[in-house]
Amino acid sequence: MRAVVFEELGGPEVLQVAEVSAPEPGPGQVAVDVAWSGVNFADAKARSVGYRVESFPFRPGLEVSGTVRALGAGVSGLTVGQHVVAMVNGGGYAETVLVPAETTFAVPEALDLRDAAALTTVLATGYALLHEVARLREGETVLIQGAAGGVGTATGQLARAAGAGRVFGIVSKAEKAAYAKDFGYDEVFVGEDFDEQVLRATDGRGVDVALDPVGGESWRRSVASLARYGRAVAFGNASEAAPWQIGFGDLAVRGLSVSGFSILGLGATDPARLRELTERAFREAERAGITVPITAEFPLDQAAAAHELLESRTSMGKLLLRVR
Ligand SMILES: NC(=O)c1ccc[n+]([C@@H]2O[C@H](COP(=O)([O-])OP(=O)(O)OC[C@H]3O[C@@H](n4cnc5c(N)ncnc54)[C@H](OP(=O)(O)O)[C@@H]3O)[C@@H](O)[C@H]2O)c1
Repeated sequence: MRAVVFEELGGPEVLQVAEVSAPEPGPGQVAVDVAWSGVNFADAKARSVGYRVESFPFRPGLEVSGTVRALGAGVSGLTVGQHVVAMVNGGGYAETVLVPAETTFAVPEALDLRDAAALTTVLATGYALLHEVARLREGETVLIQGAAGGVGTATGQLARAAGAGRVFGIVSKAEKAAYAKDFGYDEVFVGEDFDEQVLRATDGRGVDVALDPVGGESWRRSVASLARYGRAVAFGNASEAAPWQIGFGDLAVRGLSVSGFSILGLGATDPARLRELTERAFREAERAGITVPITAEFPLDQAAAAHELLESRTSMGKLLLRVR
């Protein structure tokens, strides 16, 4: 079978298609014949800076949809031939992948395999950010970075569905602002001075919740955008900035909270909790009619082109690899 691998860190060109033997599932594992692989920013970070790469050759890919090919010992509740979606700790850019049974889900009735592949990670991430970590309450205001991207388009809709007061986004280009408006946002700001724009739009009050995957100066500005008792959640470091520091003096006067979240970290340490979270997120998506726009799809052997687009900062919505 074919799988995408890289043997060294570098640009998209280090992604190669290799012929490898089809894997057999061990205890608690499911072999899935992959129809679609989701392309995530974390895949590009693995390739470019070695995010979560422990050895070479490394196989990227964190989410797939497809058909159950075989079940390992002890796996129940799934059948060979069933359509599933799964989160996996690498290896998803392949014709067949082994996934943990705990993070394998029957495809929800309302979705086909293509939509399911696009939705799984971004939906569960957005749901965790808003509901588990930031503990969003009805009527509160929310600010989301990368509003036009995969996580951004899902999370804007989730915030709206949760009864948020106003939902603000941040993007790097005007065309992205116009695009994001269809995905739950009241207003989308362009530019690095977004904290000033947020304060102007809220008559100096700020927002209750700010979600930041960029880090560095952006993280500082996300915290500066908070209202009294506001909560900022760091969920990435796209800027590659040095680790941030924040202390009593920065937080106490306005009673602010800061926190972080990683869906890969949750999956690695508590897969049962990830399962329960994802099931709740899918139920919410079904109830509220949340979908993620798929804006480009590439065959497996063009994974490099997908990474190039994702890193260009021109992509909007979700990118997929079409595998079978
Ligand atoms: N912690 C978690 O559990 C978790 C889970 C999923 C994703 N994430 C993070 O959430 C973010 C969105 O992920 P995604 O897969 O949905 O990707 P995406 O939003 O579809 O694409 C990445 C976006 O990041 C923004 N960005 C900001 N600074 C950037 C930089 N220095 N270089 C490139 N892009 C930059 C760009 O939007 P603008 O050009 O509009 O700024 C770009 O469109 C990523 O940072 C990812 O690591 C975290």
